[in-house]
Amino acid sequence: MFLDGATVGFDTVNNKAVFIDQTLLPNEYKEVLTDDYNEIYDAIKLLKVRGAPAIGVFTGISLAVLMNKSKADTYENLFAELKDYCEKLVLCRPTAVNLKWATDEMLKVAEISCEENFKENLNNKALEMIEDDIAICRKIGEYGAKILENCSSILTHCNAGRLATVKYGTALAPVYVAKEKGCDIKVFADETRPLLQGARLTAFELCDAGVDTTVICDNMASFVMKNGLVDAVLVGCDRVALNGDIANKIGTNGVAILAKHYNIPFYVCMPFSTFDKNIKTGDDIVIEMREGSEIGEMWYEKTMIPQNAKILNPAFDITDHSLITAFITEKGVFTPDEIKKYI
Ligand code: MRU
Repeated sequence: MFLDGATVGFDTVNNKAVFIDQTLLPNEYKEVLTDDYNEIYDAIKLLKVRGAPAIGVFTGISLAVLMNKSKADTYENLFAELKDYCEKLVLCRPTAVNLKWATDEMLKVAEISCEENFKENLNNKALEMIEDDIAICRKIGEYGAKILENCSSILTHCNAGRLATVKYGTALAPVYVAKEKGCDIKVFADETRPLLQGARLTAFELCDAGVDTTVICDNMASFVMKNGLVDAVLVGCDRVALNGDIANKIGTNGVAILAKHYNIPFYVCMPFSTFDKNIKTGDDIVIEMREGSEIGEMWYEKTMIPQNAKILNPAFDITDHSLITAFITEKGVFTPDEIKKYI
């Protein structure tokens, strides 16, 4: 095993990008080592690697791996090849800003490189992305653990845990840090239709870490909230607009509306790199639309939707900033109004 508790990695000795195939969890743990462009593209597209920060770091590692194999013999050709990979990969998943962030970062490094240090600089940048992600998530965990000091249970949606980052996660990092400090927080995990990131991934990693975990169907969130079982909601996010609106896994907006109704604080945990300075409000965020088969067929032996019925499968929704109590970031905890000043 190469990853040793991480979700993605860079095997620099054998020049491979390494990831856990998350489509096989929770039944099978499989690490995949690859230097193949098509396999990398499919890993992101098919959610073998998923979660905004993990997608970003994996993209950085993959670009370094692909360029290490390049036979281009001039700076111009190296740069053109990198740009081509970036332009193709960035289309894989349009909502998470981290994919674009990672391709931009690698292109910036390439711009200030020359033919001699081109590959080495990309390798160093990819390794830096891994270390930065771990440090940032740890910080989010520390700030979040303070917020949770008087909470005994939280609800989370999708998976914004260690499987969505290199380590720790964003929304689950506070739970892990609190546990290290001897404070056990119970977690309600929304199953998260249609791809079951909550049931399959959040429950897998929390149970693995010894956290008291209860999976509920998405339509049960109001039940646990109304019955006083949830002290706070913590979610991750894929993109933040300048006004503080966020895009996150489909269903997040509904959870935020419920939390407001039941007077439960709703926290969004994310690194500052999730801000998109080019986007004014959530209305401008592109929502990824996915295949209907994920809803009607994927988890069933026989199709569960009549052939004539149409299927709509948006992968994300927008939560209005007015529903967000605060952002928990690596730089501290900020209300939507405060955070604007730091962008
Ligand atoms: O489609 P996914 O599984 O990539 O969606 C993941 C989420 O929506 C997460 O909440 C988000 O990426 C934040 S992960 C720290």
